[in-house]
Amino acid sequence: MSAAAQVRRARREDLPAIVEIEEATFSEAWTPETFASGLQRDDMVVLVATEGEVVAGYAVVVIGDGEAELANLAVSAARRGRGIGEALLGGTLEVLRDRGASCAYLAVRASNERAARLYRRHGFREIGTHAGYYARPREDALVLALEL
Ligand SMILES: CC(C)(COP(=O)(O)OP(=O)(O)OC[C@H]1O[C@@H](n2cnc3c(N)ncnc32)[C@H](O)[C@@H]1OP(=O)(O)O)[C@@H](O)C(=O)NCCC(=O)NCCS
Repeated sequence: MSAAAQVRRARREDLPAIVEIEEATFSEAWTPETFASGLQRDDMVVLVATEGEVVAGYAVVVIGDGEAELANLAVSAARRGRGIGEALLGGTLEVLRDRGASCAYLAVRASNERAARLYRRHGFREIGTHAGYYARPREDALVLALEL
């Protein structure tokens, strides 16, 4: 675990750093507008992990009807492998439990073993697949779920 990483709710001024990580990470990146509107939505929680003043990663969760979808999670490439993803996922699950969500689910690329290991460590279990869910490159999604 990275001793210096702090997890907190994202603010407007974090958006450029979030978008930079997003665009460097995903072939089909969310737009800046999606993140900006997410900050205004009651059903969406955006968390950032910071090291000092630097935004090192973020997590986005959508909450509705007692269920929550972990919609986005990324750590900047240079800062991976030292517990920041762990801290973000832990912080996200804490928010969901506080909000009374009973179940969390997410989709992950079938080849993304590092992310899947992180989710499994937190108790997520595979409940199915979506064939050809992702584009660029085309790939199946594993659907993982956790009872909170
Ligand atoms: C998936 C992702 C968010 C994980 O973030 P991360 O900060 O690298 O995650 P952690 O550091 O908490 O854990 C990653 C690994 O580092 C290890 N680790 C954590 N702290 C460590 C430390 N201090 N020293 C050595 N290793 C450490 C963990 O045990 C874990 O090992 P594993 O891969 O063998 O399971 C990150 O790799 C990422 O952004 N990937 C691209 C985007 C992505 O795939 N998002 C998920 C989409 S569903």
